[in-house]
Formats: sequence, C-alpha cells, structure tokens
Amino acid sequence: MSPRIEVIDLTKTYRRDGGEVITPVDHVSLDVGADELVVLLGPSGCGKTTLLRCVAGLERPDRGTIVIDGRTVFSSDKGIWEPTERRQISMIFQSFALWPHMTVFENVAYPLRCRRTSETEIGRRVAEALATVGIGGLGAQHPGRISGGQQQRVALARALVAGSNVVLFDEPLSNVDAQVRAQLRFELKVMQKRIGFSGLYVTHDQTEAMELGHRVAVLEHGRIAALGRPREIYENPESEYVAGFVGTANIWPGRIVGTDATMVGIETPAGLLHASRAHLSKVDGLRGGDLVSVVIRPEQIRLARGLPDDAPNSLAARVEASLFAGPHTEVVVRAGDLSARIWSHDALLDLEDDEAVCIVIAPERIRVVPRAA
Ligand SMILES: Nc1ncnc2c1ncn2[C@@H]1O[C@H](COP(=O)(O)OP(=O)(O)OP(=O)(O)O)[C@@H](O)[C@H]1O
Ligand SMILES: [Mg+2]
Repeated sequence: MSPRIEVIDLTKTYRRDGGEVITPVDHVSLDVGADELVVLLGPSGCGKTTLLRCVAGLERPDRGTIVIDGRTVFSSDKGIWEPTERRQISMIFQSFALWPHMTVFENVAYPLRCRRTSETEIGRRVAEALATVGIGGLGAQHPGRISGGQQQRVALARALVAGSNVVLFDEPLSNVDAQVRAQLRFELKVMQKRIGFSGLYVTHDQTEAMELGHRVAVLEHGRIAALGRPREIYENPESEYVAGFVGTANIWPGRIVGTDATMVGIETPAGLLHASRAHLSKVDGLRGGDLVSVVIRPEQIRLARGLPDDAPNSLAARVEASLFAGPHTEVVVRAGDLSARIWSHDALLDLEDDEAVCIVIAPERIRVVPRAA
C-alpha cells in the first residue's frame, strides 16, 4: 500500500533576527504508511514542530517534496504549493485547542461548519465521530467539565470528523501530569489501533515515543539521526546521540584490539571487553586500533558479589551508590576509571557502599558505535 504521507529531501531554513540562517529541517526524507503512527523525537529546538508545520502547510519549505495520499502538495521543483485547507489533514496541539465556550458537539462540528456542510450531515457525522472515540454521551457538555482523557477524545473526534484520517500531533500530552499522561498515551494507542488513522506525532519524551510509535524518527539539528521500530532503535542505536537520547545508556570510550570471525576485542578504561561480532550490525569494517564508543544498557549488566571469575567480560568494580527505584535498584559502580549504571532486579542484592563486586556483560549485549567527535 502506498504511504499516506511522503516527505522527500525536505529543507526549511529560517533567518534569525540579526541575519543568522538556521536549518531546522535539513534534507529530511520520511514516510508514514496507512494506519501507521510515526513519532518525531528530539530535544527542544531540533526542528520537530517546523517539520510538522511544513507537512501541514503552515510553513513553506525551501526545497523538497511533500506528497499526501498520492497528491503532491509541495514541490520546489514543480513549483507546487497547496494551502493548508486543501491538504486534508488535521492537527492536534499541546492544549488540544478546544473552544471552552462551545459544547463538545460544537467543537467537533467546527471543521464541518467551516466547509458549509448541511445540518443533517453535521448531526450524523459528529454523532458518529463521538461514538467512534467512545464519548457518544458527552455532546452537550463543555470542555472545562470533562476529564483530560475525554478532552483528548474530543480533539481526536474533531480531527477525524474532517474525514481525512491523517492526523498531525504536536506534543498533545505535554500539559498533563505524568500519571494522566501515561493513561492518555495508552488510550490513544488503543484508539489508534481500533479506528486506524495515520499520524505524525511530535514529542521530546522518549518513553512516549517508544510506546506510541510504530516507528520513531530521532531528530538531531534538523536531520534524521535514526529511523526505525522502537525496539530496533533502542537495541541497536547507530550513534552516541541516539543511544543517549533514547533510553539510558552506559557509553564508554574504547579501542579495538583484535578481531576474529566471531568476537571483537575492545579495550576500555574498565577493562578488556569481548563483543559478539554478529550483534554489531551498525558498524562494519572494524579494525585493530579503531577508536569507538561502547554502548551498554543498564539492564544488560549483571552484578555479582566478590571477585571476577573467568566468565567473558567479568570485571572488578566497587559500589559507589545504590538507589532503590521500585521496580529495580540502580547501582552505580566504579570499574577501572569508569562508572557504570546498572539496573538490577535482584531483590536480595543489598550492597554496601564501597563493597567489592564484579560486573558481567554478555558479549551479545555490547554495542559499538563510532566515537563522537
Ligand atoms: N519563525 C521562526 N523564525 C526563526 N526561527 C525559528 C522560527 N520558528 C522556529 N525557529 C527556530 O527553529 C528551530 C527549530 O524550532 P522548532 O519549533 O521546530 O523546534 P522543536 O523541535 O519543535 O522544539 P520544542 O521541543 O521546544 O517545541 C529553533 O532553533 C527555533 O528557534
Ligand atoms: Mg515544538
């Protein structure tokens, strides 16, 4: 099936006050398939909103192409520029942007009224949209008197009533507190599955990105630093930036000291590590002497009492701190010149500060990325 949204080699520059030119969208290519939610993830200022606004037609890019449902809505080469209202998409913003003085029904009816749809048609489509998102009974209420989750549903119903089923979200959950946010995220995911719409979803929250996105695009200064399924990005990050931004990672400097058909030896300030070559798909052509960074997730390091044994990657360490975090205990240890964060699920592990321990890392859990400049 052809993609619902296609962004091809898109670039957008801004001129700042004072004349400096910045490029918040820098040669970006990306597509969103039918019933797919693609999340744009990145730190503040990396260009997420700008990219979304380009797709919506609220910003005019400098170069590139945007195709929505097979129709080119922007092409610098062909001189095509379609205004927002002709693009058949909906946007949901931070605050849901519901009108407080209008009822839920009227909020959802608004896009149809703008298009001068008949009253009977409006009645039918709004009732259908409200029922679809599960708030059929709330049409007469005002947004200030319903819960955050219900407001989210109103915003979604309004986005869907227009009939395009392509929805752009700009941090729609950033104004709600952590617990409600987790709940709304879950509800949105369930509704997305049930109703089936395509979406581009902007957030700087990595948990939200991983939970919601069928695929995640990690942005770095206007460029796509990684694009893939959440698990793939988490387990096989392609750079220090991606490893550090998506999830928590131990990132250690390393030098390749020898390779054979199955293993790669890496010297680190914590000691010598062996990584399984089959699990290093993101780097090719590793040679002795290469400077790299070693990436190990905190849950992939095993802690044991006492001295290292002859298991592979068994290293001596000392406990610096042990922090009980509920589902796991975060233990910070010093190994050689490095400190390592470890998330241990071992409930019996009650470690003293400065206690001698050994850390063990399975060779297939080690990732290697190019050393950042
Ligand atoms: N109209 C504008 N004129 C000039 N520069 C702009 C304009 N709008 C945004 N910028 C700049 O473009 C860059 C990207 O902004 P953008 O709003 O896309 O970031 P963002 O990733 O959405 O950040 P946040 O997470 O804070 O919302 C920023 O450096 C911002 O200052
Ligand atoms: Mg933004």
